[in-house]
Amino acid sequence: MIQAFIFDLDGVLTDTAEYHFLAWKQLATQLGIEFSRADNELLKGVDRMGSLELILQLGQKQLSVDEKLKLAEQKNTEYLKLVERMSPADLFPGVLPLFSSLKAAGVKTALASASKNAALVLQKLCIPALFDYVADSNLIKNGKPDPEIFLTCAQALGVAPERCIGVEDAPAGVTAIKAAGMYALGIGEPHALTQADLVIPAVSALDQPLLTKLLTL
Ligand code: BG6
Ligand code: MG
Repeated sequence: MIQAFIFDLDGVLTDTAEYHFLAWKQLATQLGIEFSRADNELLKGVDRMGSLELILQLGQKQLSVDEKLKLAEQKNTEYLKLVERMSPADLFPGVLPLFSSLKAAGVKTALASASKNAALVLQKLCIPALFDYVADSNLIKNGKPDPEIFLTCAQALGVAPERCIGVEDAPAGVTAIKAAGMYALGIGEPHALTQADLVIPAVSALDQPLLTKLLTL
């Protein structure tokens, strides 16, 4: 029986994946680097400095550590401008009913986010209380695709990894869930999340019949 759900944040519970893209796109344009939505797929779930490195590789640019830190800071400032305008209306449809169903079924919930801004986004959405445990990249040494963040959540919840379902929109995140020995529920397109055990288009597709099926895995 499944005893815990561990959720990614950006792109799973709210559309901040788009805000990350817009902020990186602005930076890439400034640097004269072509950066498409397809390129952005590789950045999903990857931490801030890792994402910057990928963009610099795309543009075959080599910068000093100081320059990179400045650019990462600049991207974050741009991202925070977008987050500032967020409200509970930005929560994806179906999230609150899903958490009610999980609570009613006695399933524990955790957040596993690679973002250093996760706590702020949770506050903007007014959902910190939904989670039994929150792990973000301030707490974790090895980012996704390493399983550390998912294993940390499982341990904090007191649930064995094989009794956890991880929910992710990013290939790096799905890899992390599978490496943690959990069931991976992908959010997005099956062709982009080939390692996932099941892919649904959005959290809203996780209706009661599907949830009942997943809980008895
Ligand atoms: C992940 C996003 O959740 O957080 C990535 O999928 C992002 O796109 C990463 O780069 C780090 O976010 P932040 O807010 O710490 O820069
Ligand atoms: Mg994500």
